[in-house]
Amino acid sequence: MAAAGSAVGLGNIWGFPTQAASNGGAVFLLVYLLMVFALAYPLLVAELTIGRYGSANPIKSLRAVWPQQRGVAAVLGVAGMIAVSMILSFYAIVAGWLFGFLVGPVLEAIGMVSAAEWLESFSASRNLSLMIIFMVLTILVVRNGVADGIERWSTRLMPVLLGLFVVMVAYILTQDGAIDGLKMYLVPDFSHMSPELVVSAMGQAFFSLSLGVCSMMVYGSYIKKDVNLPKTAAQVAMLDTSVAFIAGLLILPAMFVAQHNGVEIYSDTGALLSSDTLVFSVLPAMFDTMGAAGLFIGVLFFVLMVIAALTSSISMLEVPVACATEELQQDRKIAVWWIGGLITLFSGIIVFNFGDMFGLVISLTTEYAQPILGMLFALLVGWVWKRDKVLEEIKQGYPELEQGLFWKIWPWYVRVVCPLLMLFVFFA
Ligand code: PHE
Repeated sequence: MAAAGSAVGLGNIWGFPTQAASNGGAVFLLVYLLMVFALAYPLLVAELTIGRYGSANPIKSLRAVWPQQRGVAAVLGVAGMIAVSMILSFYAIVAGWLFGFLVGPVLEAIGMVSAAEWLESFSASRNLSLMIIFMVLTILVVRNGVADGIERWSTRLMPVLLGLFVVMVAYILTQDGAIDGLKMYLVPDFSHMSPELVVSAMGQAFFSLSLGVCSMMVYGSYIKKDVNLPKTAAQVAMLDTSVAFIAGLLILPAMFVAQHNGVEIYSDTGALLSSDTLVFSVLPAMFDTMGAAGLFIGVLFFVLMVIAALTSSISMLEVPVACATEELQQDRKIAVWWIGGLITLFSGIIVFNFGDMFGLVISLTTEYAQPILGMLFALLVGWVWKRDKVLEEIKQGYPELEQGLFWKIWPWYVRVVCPLLMLFVFFA
């Protein structure tokens, strides 16, 4: 459940629907599904397995897998650590916006209109303040260690979130204009197919499953030896993909409903206007149409989203913190503040250079760092790690491993197919 908590987050409700809306809808959905099951799932098993084998921070786990090249293994771990810190620095900005739309309507309802306006409109001061609040929350949770509370939170959160989504989808589909969004989402128009679309879908799949940046490796190190890793990974991938799919079912129709009600969504050239904030104009517009219930549902929705974002952000901060506490023998309670502080600082730099840096950092981390590091982890498991060691590790929680289909396919699949597939996508 904690790994599912890491996977389900802004990637599902903000990243996926935005990407789908900017890339022709259904075609993106199809390529995304292909990327999740043909590429991301096998790599998720690989990352969890490395982590559980090492039962330590990523640097140490990677070294355990590659003892002949301890230096190179450490470089891989450090690269993941830097990438995940950069991800957190933009993630916290977007997560901060959630607070704005959570508190804004409540303030408005009690008459504090100008405060509400500030919270819901785009400005550096608002982005900075809300980002800092989110970072402090993340730091406080990680400070107390992730193993305990998170699993409990995630277990309760997930069903409520899914239930609320279903209610919202049912509502939006009764509104005028929704059918156009549904068509865009479910009826493929292959004229949108392009190499960029495939790269975006790959990046989105890696981002959504928290791959390539050692988060899943750290969580793997906390998994008990009798847990079936391929099965756990499959459950995480299924749950994460279901949430993304349902979010699309909500947001794309909601876009067209908002457009029907006079909100501008697309520019004259057919590109999305302000794609980063699309979800944040479309959803509040929807809650507005619900009357009094809208305030309640809106607040509930944004509370759940803040928690979902938190269960993801802690899995990011946990990576450098686990490395610092174990490799540099730092006290967790201190390390978490200076590492969190540095990330907050970097995030602040992005806030003040939003136009130049925000998109750049997202594309550098999700479209390059995550897939490339993910591929290196696959090469490590496929070519460097002894096959019988891998077998032994997975078998502990899956005694009949050798009889099943998984073991017939997976080892050569991560060894050959995954790396080739990724090279192909990059060169295309
Ligand atoms: N998977 C998370 C989401 O969808 C984001 C994430 C990326 C978490 C990388 C950890 C590491 O929101």
